[in-house]
Amino acid sequence: MQVLSVASEVYPLIKTGGLADVAGALPGALAKHGVTMRTLLPGYPAVMAALENAVPFHRYEKLMGHAATVLAGTAKGLEVFVLDAPHLFNRPGNPYLGPDGKDWPDNAQRFAALSQVAAALARGDLGAYKADVLHLHDWQAALAAVYLRYQGGGPKTVMTVHNIAFNGQFPPAYFGILDLPPQAFAIDGVEFYGNVSFLKGGLACANAITTVSPTYANEICTADYGMGMQGLLQARKAVLSGIVNGIDTDVWNPETDSDLKAHYSVRNLAARDANKRAIEQRFGLEPGDGIIHGVVSRLTWQKGLDIFASLLDWLVGTGARLALVGTGEPNIEAAVMAAAARHKGRIGVVTKYDEALSHLVQGGCDTMLVPSRFEPCGLTQLYGLRYGCVPVVARTGGLADTIIDANDAAISAGVATGIQFSPVEGASLQNALSRTAGLFANKPAWMNMQLRGMGTDVSWDRSAAAYASLYKGLI
Ligand code: ADP
Ligand code: GLC
Repeated sequence: MQVLSVASEVYPLIKTGGLADVAGALPGALAKHGVTMRTLLPGYPAVMAALENAVPFHRYEKLMGHAATVLAGTAKGLEVFVLDAPHLFNRPGNPYLGPDGKDWPDNAQRFAALSQVAAALARGDLGAYKADVLHLHDWQAALAAVYLRYQGGGPKTVMTVHNIAFNGQFPPAYFGILDLPPQAFAIDGVEFYGNVSFLKGGLACANAITTVSPTYANEICTADYGMGMQGLLQARKAVLSGIVNGIDTDVWNPETDSDLKAHYSVRNLAARDANKRAIEQRFGLEPGDGIIHGVVSRLTWQKGLDIFASLLDWLVGTGARLALVGTGEPNIEAAVMAAAARHKGRIGVVTKYDEALSHLVQGGCDTMLVPSRFEPCGLTQLYGLRYGCVPVVARTGGLADTIIDANDAAISAGVATGIQFSPVEGASLQNALSRTAGLFANKPAWMNMQLRGMGTDVSWDRSAAAYASLYKGLI
């Protein structure tokens, strides 16, 4: 079975968040299930640089006003189609934001172009390739389902929602650039409260909708989480399902990870300590055996890190230390940096995107904090499980589905893998952190929880099978 996956970021070629990890891992995971997945992505500079054996597959004289080429090739082990459209994608830095930190003004054109190409490629219009299923990730790819609906032909489509908060919304005047018939600006097309929404169009037109955890699939059908799409999702509930993300257990393996100071496994967990010492050095923390909390995150409202930042003076007062790597909203960056300046040796902050350091944090810190207000799936808690870095998470979305809270019953049943809290507000997060300190003080019990996490299956095996059976059901 041939599946064309379309995503705006794919690890290890280009990454700003979990979408890249998922889009990068799916082809390998699905291969074992008889699915040949190729990936279409934009020709950002980093992608063009990584491309090998590229041959022109189709040339457009005009795509959004200029010439463009679809290239077929491989890149870091992935079979890819790359949309080489320099006027749209040959820009340095972040794929979505300009140097001023604002969305590129032509994001609608950029991702409408990607979606037009996806639809044509999947339908077999561009050359000797045709997909049996077209799998679209997030708003950047969503319009492909709309093009197929209104142009006709092509394979069945799966629309995966990684985060419904980003829906690709543009003023109604943008409808004109999309090259869709007038009737597509309607309730069963791309119209969304008078605007154009790419994701809304994808959700309305795709044959199947998935999101990245069962709990989030239910949540987005409600007004609290649906971001205005809940009515549409309720109406389409029969084709909506939640498939929890896995992780790439080769890239994330504490026995072989080259970004760690020391390798370890369930058989020699004690070796992990050398990584804790490396964390102390790297983050300028005073040495000691006390708890070091870890954070690897976008610093945003979604992630609840504004709430966490307001607790830092209290947290340091309890004797805890913190190693945080993250970038994001200026007010949260400023708050964590100010706390680090107030508490030298207790709080270390790196405000960069640093893939290697994110591995060391998982391999050396005692906890992985994820206090998200909403979390479609979340990957850092899964990396935490695999690395013996005990997740402390909000009870929402994929966090609720992947972590078993260390309450008394779960501890005596021997199933706890982390700490959960709810609601996402200061007092309950504080309570969770106090509970965590209590659990950490009991060394054998803590180690049991680490080992249980490390023994949890966080691989793609089960979820890849679920995607494969979804595809099969569609064709
Ligand atoms: P989201 O996609 O919403 O940001 P996820 O937990 O699904 O959340 O995925 C986040 C991914 O980005 C993880 O792979 C995490 O390790 C990585 N990440 C986030 N911030 C940083 C950072 N500052 N440096 C390195 N990796 C980061
Ligand atoms: C989004 C979500 C995150 C999820 C990731 C990959 O970025 O915010 O929860 O893990 O996509 O599916």
